[in-house]
Amino acid sequence: MIEEKIEQKQETEAQQAPRPKTVFSGVQPSGKLTLGNYLGAMGNWVALQEENRCIFSVVDLHSITVRQEPAALRRQTLEVLAQYIACGIDPEKSLLFIQSHVSAHAELSWVLNCYTMFGELSRMTQFKDKSKTHADNVNAGLFTYPVLMASDILLYQTDFVPVGQDQKQHVEIARDIAERFNGIYGNVFTVPEPRIAGTGARIMSLADPTKKMSKSDKNQNAFVLLMDKPEDIMRKFKRAVTDSGSEVRRGEGKHGVNNLIAIYSAAAGCTPEAAEERFAGKGYGDFKKAVGEAVVEVLRPVREKTEDLLNNKDYLEKVYTQGAENASRIARRTLEKVYKKVGFIKKPF
Ligand code: TYM
Repeated sequence: MIEEKIEQKQETEAQQAPRPKTVFSGVQPSGKLTLGNYLGAMGNWVALQEENRCIFSVVDLHSITVRQEPAALRRQTLEVLAQYIACGIDPEKSLLFIQSHVSAHAELSWVLNCYTMFGELSRMTQFKDKSKTHADNVNAGLFTYPVLMASDILLYQTDFVPVGQDQKQHVEIARDIAERFNGIYGNVFTVPEPRIAGTGARIMSLADPTKKMSKSDKNQNAFVLLMDKPEDIMRKFKRAVTDSGSEVRRGEGKHGVNNLIAIYSAAAGCTPEAAEERFAGKGYGDFKKAVGEAVVEVLRPVREKTEDLLNNKDYLEKVYTQGAENASRIARRTLEKVYKKVGFIKKPF
């Protein structure tokens, strides 16, 4: 009798226990990753692994919205996977996979294209920006790219999407698409929320701090790469643009100093206020050197571990093979539900 009661109690507790939240995010392998990708995204994913069901993808389908050299794309895809692991993402705890290995992403994307409005896609700032920078190749994929991103997120019934500030609008359209679809067919998708990084959410160019730090910048001194050598990192910070003042303090219009304080506090793990206190009375020269050193120390283990992993392709292949199997299983369940809801006949095999 007592045992029965205990069992009943345990069952009720298990039902009431909050289910682990699902986290999904991705990085495009369309070039070398930057400090911005690290501080705004991957660096923040590691801590999420302990309490959540984390799924991270190397989103190669997204990359071809801009022309890629095929051999380079293959190389960069493996490099991004290695960098995920080198940052501390543990394939035993998180699901890591390459997007093109799970065909459900492209399949759901078609369906969701039919539930996304031309007008809402036209308002995406990244589309507007990219149509200017790639004016010779404004393809339909560039336009419908947020729908593919929504499919990535919605296939896994994602609760949280940890991204940098520039991707917030894309997560919001994923929410809108999910709500629209649920409104017609019932609760098919979990409605995801963006999780925007703190001080690292928007790392700016070192050469022009009014622009986002981006791997596609023509000026090599504008960005720091995860694979940069310490001497290159130090040189780039030494040359970083500041402003005409001399105080290491944030302020309106002080884009360069604001950015360097954000980088320092994200890399050294302190608040921007603590960073200002630490450099009170010091000049920009000393400050820039300290920012460089903090970044070197954060990136050193990532670079070294990435190099090791790239020498162990068999291991990487094992990780992405296992990841593709597990991701396909989860994704398939959502896709089948969607196909049924919209009225497709069940596949006979
Ligand atoms: P991508 O590949 O451009 O960038 C990957 C992640 O890095 C962040 N990021 C930055 N954060 C701070 N400062 C910067 N300068 C900076 N530059 C980049 C981005 O915000 C992002 O979090 N569409 C996405 C990839 C994607 C995705 C997804 C993300 C595809 N499907 C599903 C989340 C969920 C992109 O192009 O990110």
